[in-house]
Amino acid sequence: MIIIDKDKKIFHLRTKKMSYVFRILKNGSLGHLYYGDTLSEDENFDYLANVENKAAGTIKYYENDSKFSLGAETSEFNIYGTGDFRQPAIELRISNRLFYPEFAYVDHEITYRKERIPEVPRVYGDEYENLTITLKDKNLNLYLKLNYSITDESSAIVRSSSLINTSQHTYTISRFMSGTLDIPSADLDFISLSGAWLRERHLVRQPLRMGIQSVGSVRGASSHQQNPFIMLAEKNANEFSGTVYAASLVYSGNFLAQTEVDEWNVSRILIGINPMNFAWQLKPGDEFKTPECIFAVTQKGFNEISHTFHNIINDNIVEQRYKNFQRPIVVNSWEANYFNFDENSLLKLADLTTKIGADTLIVDDGWFGERDSTKKSLGDWFEDKRKFPHGIGKFAEHIHEKGLKLGLWFEPEMVDPDSDLYRAHPEWSIGKIDQRRSFGRGQLVLDMANPEVIDYLIASIDSMIERTKLDYIKWDMNRNITEAFSNYLDNEHQGELLHRYIMGVYKLMSHICEKYPDIIIENCAGGGGRFDLGMLYYSPQIWTSDDSDGVERLMIQYGTSMCYPLSSLSNHVTAVPNHQIDRVVPLNFRNNVSTFGVLGYELDLSELSEDELNEIKDQVSEYRKRQKLIFSGTFSRLKSPFCGNETAWQVVSKNKEEVLVGWYKVLAKPNQRNQSYLKLVGLEKDYYYSVSNDDTIHSGAALMNMGIRLPYDFNGANQETAQISGDFQSELFTLRKVNKKVI
Ligand code: GLA
Repeated sequence: MIIIDKDKKIFHLRTKKMSYVFRILKNGSLGHLYYGDTLSEDENFDYLANVENKAAGTIKYYENDSKFSLGAETSEFNIYGTGDFRQPAIELRISNRLFYPEFAYVDHEITYRKERIPEVPRVYGDEYENLTITLKDKNLNLYLKLNYSITDESSAIVRSSSLINTSQHTYTISRFMSGTLDIPSADLDFISLSGAWLRERHLVRQPLRMGIQSVGSVRGASSHQQNPFIMLAEKNANEFSGTVYAASLVYSGNFLAQTEVDEWNVSRILIGINPMNFAWQLKPGDEFKTPECIFAVTQKGFNEISHTFHNIINDNIVEQRYKNFQRPIVVNSWEANYFNFDENSLLKLADLTTKIGADTLIVDDGWFGERDSTKKSLGDWFEDKRKFPHGIGKFAEHIHEKGLKLGLWFEPEMVDPDSDLYRAHPEWSIGKIDQRRSFGRGQLVLDMANPEVIDYLIASIDSMIERTKLDYIKWDMNRNITEAFSNYLDNEHQGELLHRYIMGVYKLMSHICEKYPDIIIENCAGGGGRFDLGMLYYSPQIWTSDDSDGVERLMIQYGTSMCYPLSSLSNHVTAVPNHQIDRVVPLNFRNNVSTFGVLGYELDLSELSEDELNEIKDQVSEYRKRQKLIFSGTFSRLKSPFCGNETAWQVVSKNKEEVLVGWYKVLAKPNQRNQSYLKLVGLEKDYYYSVSNDDTIHSGAALMNMGIRLPYDFNGANQETAQISGDFQSELFTLRKVNKKVI
């Protein structure tokens, strides 16, 4: 509900889970007042709004008004040059001339529903109520629109900004943030999902201090190193309690997410496209729209923030057809055979795929051009006749005849210098073709800002889809952009390349999604190098990391789950010793970790024993029974791998009838108490639940206050009673509500 007090010029955006309040300031700009738990409809905000500003040392906006300074006000969209010296939300220039815009309120509009627009990732849904505030700088003849969207069941607020040029001049936009949020405290920690290739989205928590703390990417992709999701949390906030604010960007390119703490301990979040190397030419009559960002708030700790984001992603970002789309359980050829395969070896892998009960064979890298290594053929999207002498169409027929689905790996955005495509069109690659360029994996990046490149990719991917009746695409992107220069754009527009690039990627993906609704795209960028809401708009699942070691995955999946739902995490059971870290972890541990997401397999099944194949078969069949719960239930983290030797998490169905708990202990410890318990959350306290593992029955209250009993391990003396022993212990517990109420 949007409540507007016209006299006091106050806007109150109110849902069951939050209130967000701002007002029109004396100069017509917008001042932020409050974001937090829901306040009453007729709340009187005078005590927040009518504070006489007596802060010393500020620049006054009006000569005769010593109380009004933009530097001391909280803002909805702050601008540099008129008294607020913090990093601005927008920067404009013409040539070397800088402007200090003064956007003042003109009017507002309320609309309902947010549409899904195929080519632009955004939050969508019939349940949204939208407020657009229009402001104008009358000297510059520019309109600024600030968009806010809310829905009653969520604490989230979706924001975006747009700039419309009604002047006769072309302005260069060199910075334009999607949203800002002022928080009246700096006694907070700054939390990011940071890491590296093979170590994505680890949780990093550090205290805020005066000045700027930020994460971002200037790699042309959201990156392995930082993720476009941050949280600010009270010092004592944990998974279950404490105030937490979060911000996320619906975008896959360069981003900036920062907090600036001023001298009065106001923490200002800015989130949007990274201004570095960004320069957009806004011609007379043009409009530029930023990507959307999402803010969320809670008093109930990190799990509640995750629930908010998981719900939005599942209901309002991911294409709705995937909700009832049973996700394939794949066997992927990459770690099974790397480049060393042909149609015969793949058909054998297909038979084993059937044997373990999986349903889809993914032919990963190596099926096209003459691709025997990472140095050749990217861009040549037709089959390698040496590997498929009977043609890929025939091979696809065989796979389909076996009752399996087929997936193919593509890396559409790339080209190898040793490829027919590059030989025909060197100018389609990014960077000046007659100058030195940097290489990553031997490859160059295609200029996705060039419509001809998109047309070529559409034609070659369409043809392969149609020839193979393809069911699944693994969409990879293995290097970041350097020497960013488009041979297609003129000099004036070079600063637009990286944004146009990502919009080109979206265009290509939306083409596939619209034309082939039965295909599922799994996203990947050298593992999780582009794990973001932009990509999830087109592909409901993302290969979480190239690191599939069970122990490392605990940390990666734990961190990733802060923002992203289990339905988006693609997790494969792979061989031991693990190919990335050489660690040997038991099969059931690998399965128990991978189960919390989209389960798949990526190992040479022909090297496994009959016992191991049977064990996998059972795991696949168990997983099938659980997938609905895992995707649609409420996921909560119980114990963090960043805080000790044990990790635990759980999913509870929305009706609270079914529960799946995963518990993992990395290293065995001597002389442990043989009665340890794990407290669950979110059950019905007055009902009994049966615990599958030991056939006991406990009340929800007992399970939440005392916990489920963990297996006893071999503790140096009681070998006979041990249920589990050695390093890498784990257990999945299934609980079911029984029709019995506590008396
Ligand atoms: C990337 C992906 C892997 C695999 C290889 C193939 O590294 O993350 O899963 O597809 O490329 O070259």
